[in-house]
Amino acid sequence: MEGWISLGSAAVPCLMACDTYVCSKHELGCKATPRQSFSASTIVSSESDCATVMSSPTHSTHSHTRSSSSSSSPPSTSSSGFTSDDPEHDESVTTVDEQPLLDPELYKKYGEVELNNGMRMPSIALGTWLAEGAECSFAVAYAIKIAGYRHIDAAWHYGNETDIAKGIEAAGVPRSELFLTSKLWSTHHDRVEEALDETLRNLGTDYLDLYLINWPVALNPNGNHPIFPLLRSGRRDVSYTSDIRETWKAMEAMVRKGKARAIGVSNFSKPNLEKVLSVATIVPAVNQTEIHLFNPEHKLVEFMREKGIVPQAHTPLGASRSPLFNHPAVLNLSKKYSALPSEIVLGYLLAKGIPVAPKSANPERIDSNYVGAFAAAPNLDKDDLEELDAVASVGWQRRFFTPPWPVELGFENWPEMQLSCKLPKRQAGGAVKISQCPCAFPS
Ligand SMILES: NC(=O)c1ccc[n+]([C@@H]2O[C@H](COP(=O)([O-])OP(=O)(O)OC[C@H]3O[C@@H](n4cnc5c(N)ncnc54)[C@H](OP(=O)(O)O)[C@@H]3O)[C@@H](O)[C@H]2O)c1
Repeated sequence: MEGWISLGSAAVPCLMACDTYVCSKHELGCKATPRQSFSASTIVSSESDCATVMSSPTHSTHSHTRSSSSSSSPPSTSSSGFTSDDPEHDESVTTVDEQPLLDPELYKKYGEVELNNGMRMPSIALGTWLAEGAECSFAVAYAIKIAGYRHIDAAWHYGNETDIAKGIEAAGVPRSELFLTSKLWSTHHDRVEEALDETLRNLGTDYLDLYLINWPVALNPNGNHPIFPLLRSGRRDVSYTSDIRETWKAMEAMVRKGKARAIGVSNFSKPNLEKVLSVATIVPAVNQTEIHLFNPEHKLVEFMREKGIVPQAHTPLGASRSPLFNHPAVLNLSKKYSALPSEIVLGYLLAKGIPVAPKSANPERIDSNYVGAFAAAPNLDKDDLEELDAVASVGWQRRFFTPPWPVELGFENWPEMQLSCKLPKRQAGGAVKISQCPCAFPS
């Protein structure tokens, strides 16, 4: 059964209606009467799953409160951690398990990374791409209030910043305890402050913890679409007059104005990082780019570390229906350490000091991507990490996120794109490689 509940000012869907989940919703503000004690391991993913209680093998139950991430303090535990204004809510029934979510030492080791300006960034962010509307608000509220996330990864072009704001508001955690990242979209490279102001309004905050240039390519701000302006050929309408170095200077101004505490980039290869570094008075704090088992970016990561830039992994799980989870090395380690494959995949990156932004709108997966990933990281020893590090180089190299930018991005292993290009298509009778398309590059 699907319904709606009020989560603060956010209306979010009652995604599940069985007793166990009603209880967790109740703790988020749902008025339904809980009939069973709540624990994260008893969250079910649909009504039909009510009979089949699922749990991660790495953890049974846990409580869900955190102290401030900015102080590097480990998660605190609470016997409740939630308030309820429902008179029918019997605290003795809905008590939360006393087992701490994370060992303080574990959190100390993997929970945060230090940025080059001294700030501490929570190393697991909730990804939000393709999370929409009430489902997005619910995922954010759940991640913060129940699962314990303190870092939300947003972007203007996902179109859901206001949904994220509703989730944040519903979670009720002070802004100072959250780490909010968002990104400058490509049609906004020449109006950084205006774009950031809009993002701040959308997110209901007056500063971001981290603002990233989403891609190193500017698109025509006055083109035929606000997000993806296209030329008649079908290729993206790139603004060749825009200079990424000027955009970076405008980003730096946002730090001076107090609108962003840290700034960085996203999807920047070594050549593009070098371009920015050539003018930077503030070295990018982070480069969020596709990093995972099949695309480990060893050389780029090494370069970033030399420059004091934190590599952050987007698409860390390998996107939806991920083939990473079926790789033999992952399956072996999953069995060896009684961890879910997804937890091994994320734990691998955490163990290498690479923060991650896994996306999920599913409560159980939101949980396991956090506590399960932290639990998996220390189990992976040197041999395990070496084995995982070598996977891509022995035939598994693969990217999952390769938008059709009609410019050279400078990445290794970026596939030759196929674009819709009318002239050669007609001539050749099929799609053409970007380099063969006469309209792909300016002369
Ligand atoms: N900077 C950039 O250009 C850029 C590009 C791409 C992504 N990102 C950021 O990185 C985040 C993550 O990337 P992504 O969303 O592309 O891919 P991802 O996090 O690698 O994978 C997300 C997919 O995996 C599923 N999933 C999540 N947890 C799972 C688990 N434990 N077991 C099985 N399936 C699971 C999700 O479905 P459910 O929701 O149903 O769980 C979703 O379909 C984005 O949301 C965004 O914030 C940034």
